[in-house]
Amino acid sequence: MGERVALITGSGGEMGHGVLPRLRDQGFRIVALDLYDLPETLGRYCVETVRGDIRDEGLMGDLVQRFAPDCVYHLAAMLSAHSEADPFMAHQVNVDATCSLLRQCEESARQKGRPVRFLFPSSIAVYGLPDAATKVEAGAVEESDWNHPRGMYGCNKLYIELFGTFLGRRAGKAGEPGVDFRSIRFPGLISAETLPTGGTTDYAPEMIHAAAQGKPYSCFIDEHSRLPFMTMPDAVQALLDLAEAPPESLSTRVYNIRGFSPSPAEIRKRVLTHFPDAQIGFDPVPSRQAIVDSWPADVDDSRARSDWGLSPEHDLAAAIDDYLVPALRKRYDGD
Ligand SMILES: NC(=O)c1ccc[n+]([C@@H]2O[C@H](COP(=O)([O-])OP(=O)(O)OC[C@H]3O[C@@H](n4cnc5c(N)ncnc54)[C@H](O)[C@@H]3O)[C@@H](O)[C@H]2O)c1
Repeated sequence: MGERVALITGSGGEMGHGVLPRLRDQGFRIVALDLYDLPETLGRYCVETVRGDIRDEGLMGDLVQRFAPDCVYHLAAMLSAHSEADPFMAHQVNVDATCSLLRQCEESARQKGRPVRFLFPSSIAVYGLPDAATKVEAGAVEESDWNHPRGMYGCNKLYIELFGTFLGRRAGKAGEPGVDFRSIRFPGLISAETLPTGGTTDYAPEMIHAAAQGKPYSCFIDEHSRLPFMTMPDAVQALLDLAEAPPESLSTRVYNIRGFSPSPAEIRKRVLTHFPDAQIGFDPVPSRQAIVDSWPADVDDSRARSDWGLSPEHDLAAAIDDYLVPALRKRYDGD
């Protein structure tokens, strides 16, 4: 078998920055697509870089036909805050374009006679708890709990989880090659490499990036609201581990994962140990607080641990002390 081909959509985003080099290390030939030109630092890992929109069916169909990818990392999406602001556009990007790509991958799998592995980053936004009190009472939720998203972004993600799982099951039943769909419900992700771009969990990375630059920060979420988080390197590792897991080891096609589950006050406290003069206040924005109140305080990741060995490196202290602060000091102070 020759080199495996990976198609990565949304390759220029936060997650793409972590995934691309790691796939190149694994020996993949990478085809990358994003709305914006890929920085040269990432472009050099690719056999083809395309500037384009996943809603362009002709373009996507051509890429799938030309490169017949063995796996697709479908990272392109409209994130939560923007999806809530424009739900119709969110549906086009997050659902219609994704369904179309799934269909193209299924056709390609049939032509090639082997499955196309389809990695789909979902989100804790698929959960919908009715209020903050229920959220506290529910604690760490399992994959099948509270699948009643209140926001558009969560609706989009949940539908694709269901549709992708259906397509995989249908191919299995028919004994035909099809889409081997695998999804992770990511918690909030914190990256030292890139700045956040419109996610509801962005207050955590924003707080830390602001402190490292000596800028004041006003957190848009109540200081006691808890959500699960993870560092971007741990998230990327998890996605790659799920991609390589043998199909028979998977008891589900959609997995919870988490690194740690702090309140904003706990993040602030840890940040202050490194930047004691940081000015971090709290001024909750009701619309964004309502979304956080409907997402779980924590998730049960035991399936991911037992099925494919999830084991994140960073807890909150390690995330801030060992990963973020050294990288951000270098980035902003040139240390
Ligand atoms: N970052 C998080 O905290 C988080 C948490 C849960 C799930 N996710 C999911 O992980 C995936 C990657 O997220 P990210 O943090 O890298 O987001 P990001 O916004 O940094 O990157 C997304 C990339 O997709 C591109 N894109 C958006 N619309 C596109 C379109 N129509 N056509 C082509 N490209 C398009 C953007 O230009 C961007 O480079 C997304 O599916 C997101 O929903 C992210």
